[in-house]
Amino acid sequence: MQLIDGKATSNAIKQEIAEEVRKLTAAGGKKPHLAAILVGEDGASRTYVNHKVKSCEQVGFDSTLCKFDADITEEKLLQAIEELNNNDDIDGFIVQLPLPKHIDETKVTEAIDPKKDVDGFHPANLGKMMLGLPTFLPATPYGIVQLLDRYNIETSGKKCVIVGRSHIVGTPMSLLMSRNSKVGNCTVTLTHSRTQNLKEECLSADILIVALGKAEFVTADMVKEGATVIDVGITRIEDPSKKSGFSLKGDVKFDEVSEKAGWITPVPGGVGPMTVVSLLMNTLESVKRKSV
Ligand code: GUN
Repeated sequence: MQLIDGKATSNAIKQEIAEEVRKLTAAGGKKPHLAAILVGEDGASRTYVNHKVKSCEQVGFDSTLCKFDADITEEKLLQAIEELNNNDDIDGFIVQLPLPKHIDETKVTEAIDPKKDVDGFHPANLGKMMLGLPTFLPATPYGIVQLLDRYNIETSGKKCVIVGRSHIVGTPMSLLMSRNSKVGNCTVTLTHSRTQNLKEECLSADILIVALGKAEFVTADMVKEGATVIDVGITRIEDPSKKSGFSLKGDVKFDEVSEKAGWITPVPGGVGPMTVVSLLMNTLESVKRKSV
């Protein structure tokens, strides 16, 4: 088994981004500026957003965190989005999901200016992705593509099985893995809760991408010898032995699957750091687009 090290890869990409920022500012340009909207006090969401803000500092971006109470009205949230849309200093922004139940996530996503939608969730950007046009790719799928690319993992003609059909990971991932590009050209199967014979489907995968959000769901008997296994899951499990009070588990039972896989991403330190770096790449891209 060989480890796909998302932490090291994300650090290497951050250095590349920092170098580009230095060149931009040396040429008289402004620093890229990413904003994040966080609603409520969900612990995991807070951690993710804090990582995003901290990563901005590391690469020389400006960042703004807009925090709102969980009982903010939808109207007020839409107003905040409109302000970010109209603020020329902001190059890109995200609204951290999930949102409280009384807020319509689709409405919120559609309110974001597609030119600033660095999460790539707006229907216009998802449509462009489907057509292979330049766009902001959704952060997690983009991060996975970067990993496969930088580790030179052959995808062309391979069988790729994706577990989970979420709008932000599984569904866009299925499009990216099937399209005609350097990372792509796979024969893709997108599996979900109604899939029959899930184990057999997984066993047929040369590349298995797991994003269903159930800790240690994929076991060694579901994985083909030598397969590439990408674990997107990250579940907090109570663990009194840890200072934080919890440990993080992926969707893949790492200890046993790593014995069988050819390549595998760990949790933490696999896909997670790549998601953050994708957001930075999209924000830098937003700045570059403005200057052409
Ligand atoms: N919640 C889980 N993943 C994501 C993501 O990539 N972006 C946002 N905005 N929220 C998320």
